[in-house]
Amino acid sequence: MQIAIDGPAGSGKSTIAKIVAQKMGFTYIDTGAMYRGVTLYFLEHHVEPGDLPEIKARLGRIRLDFKEGRMHLGERDISKDIRSPEINRRVSDYARIPEIRLALQKQQREIARKKSVVMDGRDIGTYVLPQAEVKVFLSASDEERARRRQRDLLERGYEASFEEILDNLKQRDAIDSSRAHSPLKKAPEAHGIDTTRMSIAEVVAEIISIIGGVEPCSD
Ligand code: CDP
Repeated sequence: MQIAIDGPAGSGKSTIAKIVAQKMGFTYIDTGAMYRGVTLYFLEHHVEPGDLPEIKARLGRIRLDFKEGRMHLGERDISKDIRSPEINRRVSDYARIPEIRLALQKQQREIARKKSVVMDGRDIGTYVLPQAEVKVFLSASDEERARRRQRDLLERGYEASFEEILDNLKQRDAIDSSRAHSPLKKAPEAHGIDTTRMSIAEVVAEIISIIGGVEPCSD
């Protein structure tokens, strides 16, 4: 079974998707962490988004791996580094490059072919898994999303002002929604959930009830 959870930055996707996956006994795939990992790699190798030949030459060498819920680049655990303000600022500029998207989307489809998944991102219901049995699109007000993101960042040891975070979320939404290749968009058939005034448990319960109404496929 495939469950696609999409939405803009700070809409609660990863928190919710992780819990839904746990409850269902499915594998959770955080596709944002993959775009963040690729961004970290290119920044550390001083490859700018405009340098397409270098990006293409290096793309096949980047080894991203989820091991026990942690994101690895080769042997290195990059789970904390990919959440830095620097990555937040730069990730959408790399994620809009079609070559990068196609490479990561291929890996995402391969994982979902072998097992039942809850996959979160921007383009899962529309592009990566258009045949997903359940599609959810999460949203929340800009202010609520910025508040949540500030809390997340503090928990991870990063400090940033509310205005800085709000600006970054809006800027990423703008780039993510307007790019030509697989932009951030609600699939027409996705269930929209505005999480602004909902608790995590309420959102999870709503998704579980949507899943409950779906005939499981035979995998
Ligand atoms: O957690 P947050 O919503 O802030 O972001 P994320 O899910 O970690 O994704 C980080 C960035 O990766 C997004 O702003 C997009 O630019 C890109 N992304 C994407 O283009 N497609 C996806 N399926 C997932 C992420």
